[in-house]
Amino acid sequence: MHEVNPSRTALRVALRRAAHQVHDARPLVLDDPLAVRILGKQFQEELKRTPDKVKRPFSAALRAFVVVRARLAEDTLFAGVRDAGVRQYLVLGAGLDTFASRNPYAGVQVFEVDHPATQARKMEMLACAGIVPPESSHFVAVDFEQDSLRTKLLAAGFDERLPTVTAWLGVVPYLTAEAFRATMRVLARFAPGSEVVFDYSQPREALPPVEQMMLDSLSARVALAGEPFQLFFTPEMLAEELEELGLRVVEDLDGETLTARYLAGRTDGLVLRGKAGRVCVAGLVEAASQEVRD
Ligand SMILES: C[S@@+](CC[C@H](N)C(=O)[O-])C[C@H]1O[C@@H](n2cnc3c(N)ncnc32)[C@H](O)[C@@H]1O
Repeated sequence: MHEVNPSRTALRVALRRAAHQVHDARPLVLDDPLAVRILGKQFQEELKRTPDKVKRPFSAALRAFVVVRARLAEDTLFAGVRDAGVRQYLVLGAGLDTFASRNPYAGVQVFEVDHPATQARKMEMLACAGIVPPESSHFVAVDFEQDSLRTKLLAAGFDERLPTVTAWLGVVPYLTAEAFRATMRVLARFAPGSEVVFDYSQPREALPPVEQMMLDSLSARVALAGEPFQLFFTPEMLAEELEELGLRVVEDLDGETLTARYLAGRTDGLVLRGKAGRVCVAGLVEAASQEVRD
């Protein structure tokens, strides 16, 4: 992404999360009381101006994907805290995600990592909105393409001996394969019980023609925003890649499975379309992670 400007796609995603709070039926898939507030006056106006747009199928499908993947990440954290002693939540490429400011777990530290330009803009937006992140939040500026994530995390007080859930949402497609691998290698060193939730997109050639057109349209829009898609996997390629990096697939969910889990019976037209976007939960291969740590 651009070295100086904050991510524009982060703002688009935040607008979709906020639109979910305002326009979709209850119960919400992702109940985020700060999603509208963080946008500030300027973008709240934009949200009000576009009630028809959110009903369009393409827009509803993108919004559904955004809220479902966030919900899956937060559910994974909930289960990790309950069952695996998770004490850290690492949000990579956090954008305008608000979890750190609504963290309900007293014993969980939240580390938000983002590109320096995007993170600086977020701090301004939080301040303007009067949102004061609690002491459990830590903000770490990292460019995945250039910086050592591990060095920066450790300097910020992150403890890789503690089980950690990592959310890496809406970021992988924008990275080079090198940056993806370097980041995954860092996660593979975390303590047993750690998991990472991330979404990815299938390559164009794996999709039926109508979905190729949808992907082309989205690719053109993000490229115009200066953040082109660069990295695609089929589920098979991803599983192989993760294995080489010392991780294993816990769940690799397609739209149909995610719809059944989170969107069944909804009356607001919030539905996932197509097979391009998938969400993966990966865990450690214990022996491999031990070797890497030793
Ligand atoms: C589409 S936004 C998603 C934001 C957030 N995860 C969400 O779901 O709302 C992409 C995020 O990836 C971050 N990002 C992209 N390339 C990056 C890089 N090389 N280093 C650090 N962050 C990066 C951007 O700053 C932005 O916050």
